[in-house]
Amino acid sequence: MKLAIMGAMPEEIEPFLKFFKDYKTFDYAKNKYFIVEHKNNEIIIAYSKIGKVNSTITASVMIEKFGCEKLIFSGVAGAVCNSFKIGDLVAATKLVQHDLDISSFGHPYGYVPEGAVYEEADLELIEIAKKVAIEKNINLKYGVIATGDQFICDIKRKNWIANTFNATALEMEGASVAVTCNAYGVPFFILRAISDEANMDAKFNFDEFLETSSQRSADFILSMVEKIANA
Ligand code: ADE
Repeated sequence: MKLAIMGAMPEEIEPFLKFFKDYKTFDYAKNKYFIVEHKNNEIIIAYSKIGKVNSTITASVMIEKFGCEKLIFSGVAGAVCNSFKIGDLVAATKLVQHDLDISSFGHPYGYVPEGAVYEEADLELIEIAKKVAIEKNINLKYGVIATGDQFICDIKRKNWIANTFNATALEMEGASVAVTCNAYGVPFFILRAISDEANMDAKFNFDEFLETSSQRSADFILSMVEKIANA
């Protein structure tokens, strides 16, 4: 099986490269792809660089060029839901583009032309995550993750996103990866560890917790990979 593991930033994939140690590097379409042989599976690891366009390119390359059959995204997010704290892990059940707005034409916020507002993550991968959470005694959270090409550090915008989309966390790549994977029929799973609360302290918290939250997310995904690889 060929499995894609994506992050957006170097810090988000570094824990995987450290864990696997032995990998080949390929340059393609202005990005680097790291190939690992693991238990008869091939794992392709890359960070896309931030944002919806970059993440769409990387997810497409993972699928089209490298033939990935499942895609997992690991990284950090801002909390939208007040009960989520820095370091908490949240698995996306559904994803939405909070900055996609053709409401002038009567569509709901986030509506993707000829598509839908929400993209749903793969239920089998969510089940694997549930098992890992039980085994590791982790209080894994689930919910809608909202994506946009904006770093949110403003309570008004954060609350608007929370109320409009029933979102629990926000970031800048998940929904575009979701649209891409669903277009190709590739099952995907998106996990984020909270790095900040999308408020006026977000920039400082993000810088402070990027590495530790990335590591937490990656540790969880590595346990999932073991289950997927042994299946
Ligand atoms: N990723 C992590 N924190 C974020 C925030 N506050 N806004 C957008 N993306 C994020």
